[in-house]
This record gives sequence, structure tokens and C-alpha cells, in this order.
Amino acid sequence: MTAAPAPGNAAAALEVRGLVKRFGQFVALDGVDLRVAPREVRAVIGPNGAGKTTLINVLGGQLVADRGTVEVHGRRLGRQHPHQVAKLGVGRTFQISSTFRRMTVLDNMLYAHHAGGGRWFGLDAARLRRLREPAIAGLETIGLTHCADQVVDDVSHGDRKRLEFGMVLATRPTLLLLDEPTAGMGLGERQELIELVLSVARERGLTLVFVEHDIDAVFRAAESITVMALGRVFAEGTPDEIAGNAEVQEIYLGGRR
Ligand SMILES: Nc1ncnc2c1ncn2[C@@H]1O[C@H](COP(=O)(O)OP(=O)(O)OP(=O)(O)O)[C@@H](O)[C@H]1O
Ligand SMILES: [Mg+2]
Repeated sequence: MTAAPAPGNAAAALEVRGLVKRFGQFVALDGVDLRVAPREVRAVIGPNGAGKTTLINVLGGQLVADRGTVEVHGRRLGRQHPHQVAKLGVGRTFQISSTFRRMTVLDNMLYAHHAGGGRWFGLDAARLRRLREPAIAGLETIGLTHCADQVVDDVSHGDRKRLEFGMVLATRPTLLLLDEPTAGMGLGERQELIELVLSVARERGLTLVFVEHDIDAVFRAAESITVMALGRVFAEGTPDEIAGNAEVQEIYLGGRR
């Protein structure tokens, strides 16, 4: 008789083992292990240059690791291109804005829904009509219908960050990787965006891995925290465990908490 798998053995949403990434002689990821459970909300923190973005780039298929393995819901990522990684359910945003700044907010969303369907060509009038409804629903989800017809260049930085989040949702990810989703935003709008991300993730049962420098947001939002330093996982635990970790305090938080 085969025993049912214990919950701990169920496929993780993300399982990373021994990830190494070098840039020439420089080792940006130095043997990173990471396991994130389905529907978990995980923050990744660490000083500048710790390797956080490099990690997200490897997970999203933008970079190929030199060593190590990545599994998403039990499926191994090889040398897939980013759009193939997206098809496995991985969605990501970028630390640097990735919207089309001279297009309107709605056109960006239409494009995201078109590309999210796995197609890059053949955007004809009939297809555009079909995409309009989901694109507008997408704008409603992120609260941007009020500026649908404005070009991205004319909307606030906070609304642009919101749009980026909405565009990644259009690819219907199950694992969402957000690289500094609130960078450069004011305190109030930052909190609103984090709340929005959390509520969408909860509602859709998404697994969330987010890189964030705003420590207060991290401690409020994350169920678990991975601290990176020098390309390695330096510490990992619940917010309470990380807040109570003397070495993390010393090296990263600078005694702020
Ligand atoms: N394409 C590249 N070529 C060479 N070095 C790189 C490249 N990308 C990143 N690095 C280096 O790898 C290290 C890790 O960079 P990474 O962008 O992953 O850091 P980070 O933790 O995201 O930092 P930040 O908090 O500033 O965004 C840095 O020292 C960076 O200079
Ligand atoms: Mg970074």
C-alpha cells in the first residue's frame, strides 16, 4: 500500500538547490537553497548587491545559472526562455520600470493580455476586441480605470508600479516574483500596493516571493523572510525569528528593530 504523501513532502511551489551564478570571476549567487510552499508569502531582503535581483532573474529565465536546480511546482526549469518560464506559471516584475511609456495604460494592459495568452504576433482588430474586456477587468483589479486612456509617461510613478503588477497578473501566474514592487513610492501608496498584492495573492491562491527594501512593509506582509548576503542565504525564518536574530540585526537591520 502506498502511503499518502505527508504535507511536508508535497511539491513546493518553488524549490531551489545549490544555485550558483557567476559574472566572470564574481560570484553573485553562491549556492542558494530556497523552498517556498504553495501560497506562502515570502520576502527576500538583504543589502545592495546581495544577489536578490540575480536570483529573481535566474528564476524568471532572464539568466541561466552556472550550477544548481530550480523546480516550480515540481517541474524542473532548464534553459527555458522567459516566455516558456512564464508558461510554467512564473510571473515576475522588474526592479526597473518595464511598461511601454508612450502607450496608454489600457494599451499596456491589452498588450499584456495578448502576450499573456502566449502570443506575440497576430494582434488583429478582432483579437483586440476580445482582449478589451479582460484588460479592463485587469485595470479594475489594480484600481487604474481612472487613467486608462492616459499615456504611461503622464501617470504617477505609483500608478506605473501598479500597472506593472497588473501586467504580470495578465500572464496568470501561480508563482509571482516581485523585485522591489514599491521602489520609489511614497509611504501611503506603498502600503496600498502591498495590501493590493496580498489580497490578490490570497484571492487567487498565488505563491508570492518579493524582494523589498522597505523593512516595515516586509515585517507587516511576509509570512517568512529570507535574508541574503554576499550571494548566500544568510538567515531564514518567520518575521519574529528574523527580528530576534542577533546576527541579522547586526549586519542588516543595524539594530533598527
Ligand atoms: N550582468 C552583470 N554583470 C556583472 N555583475 C553583475 C551583473 N548583474 C549583477 N551583477 C553584480 O552581482 C551582484 C548582485 O547584484 P544584484 O543585482 O543581484 O543585487 P541585489 O541584491 O538585487 O541589489 P539591490 O538591492 O541593489 O537591487 C552585484 O555586485 C552586481 O554588481
Ligand atoms: Mg536588486
